[in-house]
Formats: sequence, C-alpha cells, structure tokens
Amino acid sequence: MPSFPSYRPRRLRRTEALRSLVRETVLVPSQLVLPLFVRPGKGVRVPVSSMTGVAQTSVDELVRDATAAAEAGVGGVLLFGIPDHKDEEGSSAWDEQGPVQQGVRALKRELPQLVVITDVCMCEYTSHGHCGVLVDGEVDNDRTLDLLAREALSHAQAGADIVAPSDMMDGRVGAIRSALDDAGHAQTSILSYAAKFASTYYGPFREAAESTPQSGDRRGYQMDAANVDEALRETWQDIDEGADMVMVKPAGPFLDVIARVKDETGYPLAAYQVSGEYAMIQAAAERGWIDGERAMMESLIGIRRAGADVIITYFAAQAARKLTAR
Ligand code: PBG
Ligand code: ZN
Repeated sequence: MPSFPSYRPRRLRRTEALRSLVRETVLVPSQLVLPLFVRPGKGVRVPVSSMTGVAQTSVDELVRDATAAAEAGVGGVLLFGIPDHKDEEGSSAWDEQGPVQQGVRALKRELPQLVVITDVCMCEYTSHGHCGVLVDGEVDNDRTLDLLAREALSHAQAGADIVAPSDMMDGRVGAIRSALDDAGHAQTSILSYAAKFASTYYGPFREAAESTPQSGDRRGYQMDAANVDEALRETWQDIDEGADMVMVKPAGPFLDVIARVKDETGYPLAAYQVSGEYAMIQAAAERGWIDGERAMMESLIGIRRAGADVIITYFAAQAARKLTAR
C-alpha cells in the first residue's frame, strides 16, 4: 500500500466526473421495489399519517401509483392487502376477489413488464393481528403452513411473479413451493423473508397495514436482533426448501447481516428498508434537521454497498426519479 505523499486519495475526489468514474457501488432504479397497500373500493386514497407520501389505495389508484413508479424506472412493487373482513383464521387471505388478488390482475394487465410481488402473511387478515393461527394464545406453526400455502397459491393464480412469505413460520417455504408446484405454478418465484428480525422499526407499517397484534408481540416467531449466525441458518434452510431469493429485514440496522448472508450464500438478496427507517428520515427532514433527499440516497447506497441486490423501499419512486434526473 503506497503512502503519503505518493498516494493522495483526494486526487480522485476533485470533481463529480472523477468521483463517478471510480464509484464502486451503483444504485439502479430497476433494482428498487415499491411497497403498496391496497384496499377494497374505488377512488379510495387514505394517507398513512406516520409515513409521509404513503397511502392505502383502492385498485384503480394502485394502478396509478404503480404506473408512476414504473415510468420512473422502478423494477417492481410489493403488495400488501387490507381486507374488509378479518376473522380468527384470516380466511380472506385467499379470497379470489380480495384486494391483493384484484390488484395483481389489474397490474399484470396494465403494466405487464413491472414485477409484481405479493406479501404472504396472515396478520393483515386475522382478527387478532398475529401472523398465524392462535392455539392457546400461541401462534401455531404447523397449522399456519396450510393457510399460507393457500394464500400464496391464490396470489400465483392471480398472476403474481413472486410471492414473498413474511410470517416467519418454520417450513413455510417448502409448504408454499409444493403447493405452487402441485397446482402447475412451477414458474412462480419465492422471495423468502429469511432473516426477519423482531423490530420496533415496523411501527408505522402496522398503522399502514392495520396489522398491530391485539395482544403480545411477534418475538415468538421473528428473530432476535442480536443473532447473525442464526440468520444464516434461517437463510440456508429457506434456500434448501426452494427460496429463489432471500431477504434481510430491516435493512439499515442490519447491514452486517446483509453482508454476511450475501457473502456466504451468493443468492439474490433483497433488503427491506422498513417503515420506521423511512419515517425517521422523513420526520427529520420535515423538521429541517436533515436533508431528506441526501439521507435517502445515502441510506440506499449503504444498503447496496453492504451487498443487497434489490432494495424494497418506500422511497423507490422518489429515488428512481432522482437517479434518472442527472
Ligand atoms: C407482516 C409484515 C410486516 C412488515 C412487512 N410484512 C410487519 C410485521 O411483521 O410486524 C414490515 C414492513 C415495514 O415496516 O415497512 N408480516
Ligand atoms: Zn405478518
């Protein structure tokens, strides 16, 4: 390693042209995914108060938002459903006329090139708000698998390109893969929320998705924030069961996990910059305490630098516009 004064790292920092010539990491709009919240109705747009710029919308408005994102170059969208009806079992999760299923069909019709990913979980559909069925007050793993497989299958039947289970039940990737294959959907991909940590940064999302647990929390199924070896075991297990892509979530506080999972598996990796990460940047920017646009770009490049291929972020459309404006 040459030393000063023969090596002067500042020489290549003098102009934007020089800096961009030697930039190691790039952010590309096609690798950004925008989460969208879809609910029944027509012409409906309900802003999420804790997430500036994010709203729950009906299918027609969903198509409008997805079109704007696609025009900016965003690669995909991730759909979450807010159903009219919730029950103990979450049975509207596999309703063919549910908001997600209708949303998928509309998007594949109007924007066939846009990748459509659906979140597969029970918490938006259960009356108690947990990610699976409750038995004696505890989320029952094995009884939840069938329900998740039914939900994933109904998303695939509607035309989803990728289904993304976020429930954190053990064995769900295998259960979903065989349900899809048995029904002739061998080409539908699975993006597994492999290393999903129990995080306080999901707070604003639970308002957006109306999925706050009525009692208790999710620590009985989501991962403990202190564990990285376990994140690797979770990821390898999902790969073994048939995951095509894996996810680390949240992103910003877990960059080391992103780096290790990418290094050790070499699998396509998505990182989810979650609602709380977004809300913190927006809130500080609204107060004039931080430059929101620069914080957005710095947070995203950090996630890419750690090793994520794909970033799921509420900033997707805004960041894509910023990237193509230059
Ligand atoms: C539901 C789900 C959650 C998120 C994605 N899918 C919330 C949770 O597990 O409580 C979080 C997304 C975000 O915070 O932006 N299983
Ligand atoms: Zn859930």
